[in-house]
Amino acid sequence: MSGNLILGIESSCDDTAVALVDGEGVVHASEVVSQTEIHAEWGGVYPEFASRAHVRAIVPTIDRAMNGAGATQDDLKAIAVTRGPGLIGSLLVGLNAASGLATAWGKDIIGVNHLRGHLRSADLEEKRVEFPATILLVSGGHTILAHMTDAASISILGRTRDDSVGEAYDKVARMMDLGYPGGPVIDKLAKEGQDTIDLPRPMIREGLDFSFSGLKSSVVRHLEKNPDIPPADMAASFVASCMDVLLVKCRRALEAKPARSLVVVGGVAASPQLRAGAQEVTEDMGVALCLPPLRWSTDNAAMIALAGWDYVALGSAPEPAAQPGLSIEQL
Ligand code: KG4
Ligand code: ZN
Repeated sequence: MSGNLILGIESSCDDTAVALVDGEGVVHASEVVSQTEIHAEWGGVYPEFASRAHVRAIVPTIDRAMNGAGATQDDLKAIAVTRGPGLIGSLLVGLNAASGLATAWGKDIIGVNHLRGHLRSADLEEKRVEFPATILLVSGGHTILAHMTDAASISILGRTRDDSVGEAYDKVARMMDLGYPGGPVIDKLAKEGQDTIDLPRPMIREGLDFSFSGLKSSVVRHLEKNPDIPPADMAASFVASCMDVLLVKCRRALEAKPARSLVVVGGVAASPQLRAGAQEVTEDMGVALCLPPLRWSTDNAAMIALAGWDYVALGSAPEPAAQPGLSIEQL
């Protein structure tokens, strides 16, 4: 029994997601159950509530994906499930569901690195990435610049030394009482304001590493000193600082190591400001820009299933054991 679809399961943080993807990257089903409402009250993800919500959602979400694609167990080549990085309680729910199904249906199980999933998200539905590629991965937990010569080999050019850019968005949103997640609401507010507040551009002059915690503290100091700052101007100034830093580093990375494309992935790649800025950088530098459609930028299981196919091609599948601190270098 060996079908042509991989069933992907993702539960590393606050989205329960299930998808079916074939070997060409065509998505036959993709379901995402968001826990945003559960965590909004806390201004961030509350781990125990996240695990409990995954437990409630996982089986019905698998059912919906399988039924939506009209698929049965015979159509499955393997089951790919996120093994890390992420919240241990959340990861275990997906891993447990995947191993139950793999045993019951007699399928191979592949433990996927969530970050590898994000890297591959730009090739879902359509092959977009031209190698060698420079990658900017900007999610809630990570801000990484990397160089890839093919889908399996990666070298890290730079990463954040403290907060990720998504985390900075979420923390600034929380301080400004804008709710969770911060990215979409800050982007929207920023469009109504002006970049009038003089915020730092941390580490902009040097290297390819990032730092966002000083920027966040600077926003706090401005808000404390001057509580009457129009929120839209604060949002616009914060976004301008983030974009300046991210885009200068993309240029520097492309100059340092030749690439045919710039690939921008992860939740913050849903930002219209980042998408427009990356467009400008790539036009100036004569390289292709690869952006996954918005639904594949934030967490989803289609990217996990596609990364699962890479492991099938390699002929070696990592153990489906939870690894909360898994790094991007690890397969
Ligand atoms: O990749 P992702 O969905 O989950 C992780 O793997 O972390 O990224 C979530 C992050 C959050 O910090 C959220 O605020 C940010 O992505 N985000 C955005 C936007 N949509 C989500 N940031 C900026 N602009 C957006 N439109
Ligand atoms: Zn993610």
